[in-house]
Amino acid sequence: MRAAPVPEAASPLIVVADSLEALAEEASGLVLSYLAASVGERGRARVILAGGSTPRRTYSLIASGISARSLPAHAVDWYFGDERWVLPTDPQSNEGMARETLLAPIAASESTIHSWKPGRGHPVDCARSYGGALQADLRGEEPDILLLGVGPDGHTASLFPGATAFLPDGRTVPVAPSVSAQFPAAAIRGGGAPPGWRLTLCPDFLRTSRHVVFLAAGADKAGPVRRAVDGDTGTPAAWIRGITTHFIVTRDAAPEQEQG
Ligand code: 6PG
Repeated sequence: MRAAPVPEAASPLIVVADSLEALAEEASGLVLSYLAASVGERGRARVILAGGSTPRRTYSLIASGISARSLPAHAVDWYFGDERWVLPTDPQSNEGMARETLLAPIAASESTIHSWKPGRGHPVDCARSYGGALQADLRGEEPDILLLGVGPDGHTASLFPGATAFLPDGRTVPVAPSVSAQFPAAAIRGGGAPPGWRLTLCPDFLRTSRHVVFLAAGADKAGPVRRAVDGDTGTPAAWIRGITTHFIVTRDAAPEQEQG
């Protein structure tokens, strides 16, 4: 897997939406256009989904759009950028949220849903397995679409400031932009992370994605969005850029000069 450079890529595009519904309409429209292009160009699309609450409505509209546009659901593989250390049936599960809002409505086949299989065994073993399966699936190709949220502390996926990444080879390293040229996935604990374990794809891997779409809503995201757009190295959401990078945000989460 190639180590992606720390972002020097094209400047991010900021789309300001007047409401969460408008954010979902903008985001779903963009994702659906990328999906159609990827399936058209490569016969497949690989999508890495964000967790949290902001994407819920976006996922519902993506599901409606896939049906309305008769996009071949079997041609899309769904991955999860990060996960909590809970079973997919747990209300806290990112996979569970995506299944409810997107994957069940399009009747996605289990073969296209790539679960971390969290909550059993040890998180580091889980990260090792998920990263290995992901690399085998991709066969050297890049993920087409990466959806990410932004936390009030600037985290994205489960890359929390000050946290420790537990790598599949047993090493532990601070969460940082350069983690990890060797491993796509890690277990996360400590620092700004919530109590317990998290699982996350690593910045180096996330930066191999072609199209990155951040979703952020709420006044508590305005500061971290600003810092992410400005490339503040202390803000994990600043570490991830694609060939294209969009920040689709509600007006209260928009950097001042973008508020119009
Ligand atoms: C998670 C997410 C996390 C999320 C942000 C924003 O597992 O919680 O991956 O990175 O995207 O915390 O969450 P909200 O959308 O709920 O504000």
